[in-house]
Amino acid sequence: MSDKLKVAVIGVGNIGTAVAANLVKGGRSVIVANKEIQKAKNLAEKLGDKVTPLAVADAIKAADIIVFAVYFNTIKELFDTHSTELQGKIIVDPSNPIAPDDKGGFKKIIGEKESAGEILSSILPEGAKFVKALGSLGAGSLATASFQQPENAVLFYATDDKALAAPIEDLIRDTGFEPIQIGGINQSIRMEVFGDLHEFGTLGKTVTASEAKSKI
Ligand SMILES: NC(=O)c1ccc[n+]([C@@H]2O[C@H](COP(=O)([O-])OP(=O)(O)OC[C@H]3O[C@@H](n4cnc5c(N)ncnc54)[C@H](OP(=O)(O)O)[C@@H]3O)[C@@H](O)[C@H]2O)c1
Repeated sequence: MSDKLKVAVIGVGNIGTAVAANLVKGGRSVIVANKEIQKAKNLAEKLGDKVTPLAVADAIKAADIIVFAVYFNTIKELFDTHSTELQGKIIVDPSNPIAPDDKGGFKKIIGEKESAGEILSSILPEGAKFVKALGSLGAGSLATASFQQPENAVLFYATDDKALAAPIEDLIRDTGFEPIQIGGINQSIRMEVFGDLHEFGTLGKTVTASEAKSKI
């Protein structure tokens, strides 16, 4: 039996689908859940028997690591609805706190100096643990740069909990990327969209570990 922590991906849109597909490529089993459960079932059918579709509450109960691949405001709602099931779980937040503006682009929906990571970690369900991760690249690169040759691309992460480094680095490696911790949750803003360590911020592209070193 595998000694890997069990992972559930909540939300099977752009990011959730890429994360689940990458985990399957990395040989790791994954539970998927979605508001409309049929979408999770369709994804499981497409990706094969390493993927188990479950209802959101059941997925959270069954897994150790919960990746919230849904919008920032939805994560807040899900913290509320599933606060009991989330006790003791490792929560992974890839979210960018943005919404469409009226010029065809995106604008931040929180203060300029605020980050989704800091806000979500401040309203964490009791007993849950928190990592900002899996969101520093756009969904396109997340899908296409997984297990790239000759050197994996980097996914940054941030956490205040030293004990989470090992399980999160294992998770990121299993998705085909090289994990680099940028610091605690107060650094989240750097790896959220518009930040200097986000693909759609100053970073502008995927980077390898050696390219990333000078930027951190
Ligand atoms: N797209 C990117 O390039 C990118 C990059 C980095 C980070 N992110 C972040 O990743 C997160 C997901 O983005 P995305 O582009 O993957 O969004 P998306 O394609 O719109 O997917 C969101 C998914 O969440 C599901 N969902 C909505 N409410 C839910 C609920 N209450 N319970 C369970 N599932 C629910 C939706 O299901 P239904 O379709 O059934 O409503 C949909 O499948 C966001 O926070 C975003 O900021 C995105």
